[in-house]
Amino acid sequence: MSAIRLAAHRSLHALLLTALLLSAGQSWAQSKPQIVILATGGTIAGAGATAANSATYQAAKVPVEKLIAGIPELKDVADVRGDQVFQIASESFTNAHLLTLGKRVSALARQADVTGIVITHGTDTLEETAFFLTLTVKTDKPIVVVGSMRPGTAMSADGMLNLYNAVNVAANPTARGKGVLVTMNDEIHSGRDVSKTINIKTNAFNSQWGPLGMIVEGKAYWFRAPVKRHTTQSEFDIDSIDKLADVDIAYGYGNVPPLAYEAFASDRAIIHAGTGNGSVADRIVPVLQGLRAKGLHIIRSSRVGDGFVLRNSEQPDDKYDWVVAHDLRPQKARILAAVALTKTSDSKELQRIFWEY
Ligand code: DGL
Repeated sequence: MSAIRLAAHRSLHALLLTALLLSAGQSWAQSKPQIVILATGGTIAGAGATAANSATYQAAKVPVEKLIAGIPELKDVADVRGDQVFQIASESFTNAHLLTLGKRVSALARQADVTGIVITHGTDTLEETAFFLTLTVKTDKPIVVVGSMRPGTAMSADGMLNLYNAVNVAANPTARGKGVLVTMNDEIHSGRDVSKTINIKTNAFNSQWGPLGMIVEGKAYWFRAPVKRHTTQSEFDIDSIDKLADVDIAYGYGNVPPLAYEAFASDRAIIHAGTGNGSVADRIVPVLQGLRAKGLHIIRSSRVGDGFVLRNSEQPDDKYDWVVAHDLRPQKARILAAVALTKTSDSKELQRIFWEY
């Protein structure tokens, strides 16, 4: 073979090899998990005046791009892109925010180029959003809600590691099919069970039935799985919900007046955050019976954090046609009732839903 032909042969060979490596490289790059971070605000996006300000700061200041840039290690875990959906403190969430966020998550989950979704969120109502999403987003892809108890400007800030953990869980195939998850303080919680039980410590988030697992140095360790219906097993679908029913919470305490319940007479349902086992003061029973007679549903939950409300124990629920919220705290019971009432007004159906979700 002449020298010229040999050179041409070799350059063609090199060209083909380069093309092969490039395409392999591209396919390898695409093999990295594709994670979308939907940012909504909260302390994880907060900023304080000094590093000593771990509790005095402004929430919802730092944009999602800066949160991502602040954790270069994310590049080793996944291809991560951010979207600033809101920039608010989570106590300011409304039903409209839940619907907007839920529809955004559902649309992303349907995209083939999305492996998992992380939602950064204020901790005050994080548990409500996580429960709402687990009830209504029909996907088994990992959806992980995360917040922080200290702003990123503070000493021993927890947001960076919480977010790193959330991305690792969202990128982990073993997190699929477990419902919406919450990663806080190295623990992986079910969005259904978890609540903020301490208002100023980094171990603020707890589930009375325990976390599902732990995330340590990017690795997930699972110890249990949810038994209640969620996501793909749910009968509710965010894409068929355009308005949530009006449901409010009346807090039970000694001396509570009828007005605390009558104020919600135009609602579809009232969550009674009762003392003890969802107890109702004798002067309030006829008030709730009257509201039930007008068509409102009465749902007995408890202001006590742990345990669950027993049906027909403190009150004859069968006789009064009332519903019990089982182990759901009042703020969670409100979410489930608001979602359930988009599909049924039947009290027996409502009670089934409270047993199953
Ligand atoms: N304002 C609270 C919120 O946005 C701050 C609490 C937090 O995010 O940790 O929920």
